Amino acid sequence: MASVSKASPKAAFLGAIALAGALHLSTARAEATLYDRIGSDRLGAIANELVDRSSSDPRTSRSWRKVSLHRVKSMLTVYLCSITGGPCTYDGDNMKDIHAGLDITEAEMFAMVQSLRDIMVSQEVPLRERNELLALLAPSKRDVVTK
Ligand code: HEM
Repeated sequence: MASVSKASPKAAFLGAIALAGALHLSTARAEATLYDRIGSDRLGAIANELVDRSSSDPRTSRSWRKVSLHRVKSMLTVYLCSITGGPCTYDGDNMKDIHAGLDITEAEMFAMVQSLRDIMVSQEVPLRERNELLALLAPSKRDVVTK
């Protein structure tokens, strides 16, 4: 009896740890996608605003002169939806082909990233989600910057 009453609190403690672990795992697994956390409306607004700013910002406007902004806004919205885990399939060309011939420089890339950061702040996207989106876009730099 003595050993049972001694073992019980320990067992309960271990059980509680196991339960906490299981709950932690299940919440981690069930965490919303970046798409859900940013929200589809806000992601669309970010894409629209980024194209508007990039095409009017003197630091980046030169690439946009002959482009249908309306079309790029909708393609960029779908692209952002697809890379953030949303229910969209981007069926445009890859980033290398799209930006080939635009001679985009590192300075232009940085200017656009800065605009994106500012837009996300003004749209009240939390820091963690801002960083996640920037991290998802970062690898494309090598396909976009060709000069
Ligand atoms: C990580 C960086 C970037 C990503 C992920 C990205 C993504 C995209 C996407 C998804 C499109 C739409 C393509 C389509 O029509 O299917 C696009 C088009 C375009 N992007 Fe980017 N972009 C990036 C950086 C830049 C930068 C830095 C510039 C210039 C400053 C730029 C200029 C353009 C232009 C001009 C188009 C339209 C091309 C055309 O329709 O011929 N992009 N981009």
